[in-house]
Amino acid sequence: MRAGRLRYRKWDDGTMTMDSKLQAQVDAAPRWPVIAPPISYDRMPRHIAIIMDGNGRWATGRGMIRINGHEAGVNSVRACTKFCGQTHVTALTLYAFSTENWKRPQAEIRFLFRLLRKFLVSERAELIANNVRLTAIGNIKGLPEEVQAELRLSQELTAGGTGLNLCLALNYGGHDEILEATQRLAAKAAAGLIDPNAIDERVFENELFTAGMPPVDLLVRTAGERRLSNFLLWQASGAEYFASPICWPEFEARDLEAAVMEFAQRKRKTA
Ligand code: FPP
Repeated sequence: MRAGRLRYRKWDDGTMTMDSKLQAQVDAAPRWPVIAPPISYDRMPRHIAIIMDGNGRWATGRGMIRINGHEAGVNSVRACTKFCGQTHVTALTLYAFSTENWKRPQAEIRFLFRLLRKFLVSERAELIANNVRLTAIGNIKGLPEEVQAELRLSQELTAGGTGLNLCLALNYGGHDEILEATQRLAAKAAAGLIDPNAIDERVFENELFTAGMPPVDLLVRTAGERRLSNFLLWQASGAEYFASPICWPEFEARDLEAAVMEFAQRKRKTA
C-alpha cells in the first residue's frame, strides 16, 4: 500500500516497513562517527532538554523576518541531535511548540508547522541510519492533521532505534500535562482501580507524557532568557539550568558541549 507521497508500507498486522526509496535514502545517509564525550560517559547528562529561544531576535537583528530565524534554527536542531547521538545521551527533548505559541500570528504558526513537517521528512533517513528514536510529547491531537501524519510515520519507522531518543515537545504545556495526569489518576481511583494512598512519584510519573524517560539532568535555554516557560515542570525539578546568551540559530554543538562541561563541574562541586 502506498499512502499518497508517503514512503512506507503498512502491513495488515499494523507494522510498518520502509519502501525501497526510503531504504535507499537510509543506506546513503551519513553515519555519525562516535566522538569522545567532553567528560567521561558516566558523568554525562542522560537527559538534556532545550528551550530553543531567540529565533526571531536573531533574524530581525540581521534585517530578516522572524520566520527566517526559525528556518535557520533547524540547523541547530540537527547539530544538537547529532552531538547527543554521538555522545550516547539517552534523551534530548526540544521545546518546538508550546501551548502559548498559539498566540503568535497565524502566518508564523503555519510556517512553523510547515517547517516541522519538512524536517520530519528530510531527516527521517538520517535518524533511522543513526539509530535515533523520534518521539513526541504534548497534545498531539491538537496539531494539524498533516503534521500528525508525518509525526506518526517518523515515530513508527524509528521505533526500533536503540540510540538517542529525540523527543519533540509539540503543543506542550507543563501545567496541562500535570493536570491531565492528575485527572487520569483521579478517574482510576474513582473507579476503584487504584488505591489513592498508593499514588507515589513513580505512579504519577507513569501518567506523564515522558513515562519511561529519565528525569531531565540538564536544562538549556538560549538567547539569555531565564524563564522555565511551563516546560517539563515535574521532570526538570532536579535539573541543572544553563542559560546561554547565544540565539538558537547560532547555537552549535560546541555550545552544547560547553553546557555539558559546566553541568559536570557543578555536579562535582555538589557531589
Ligand atoms: C523561539 O524563538 C522558538 C520557537 C517558538 C520555535 C522553535 C522552532 C524551531 C527551532 C524550528 C523548527 C524546529 C524543529 C524541531 C524542526 P522566538 O521566535 O520566540 O524568538 P524571539 O524570542 O527572539 O522572538
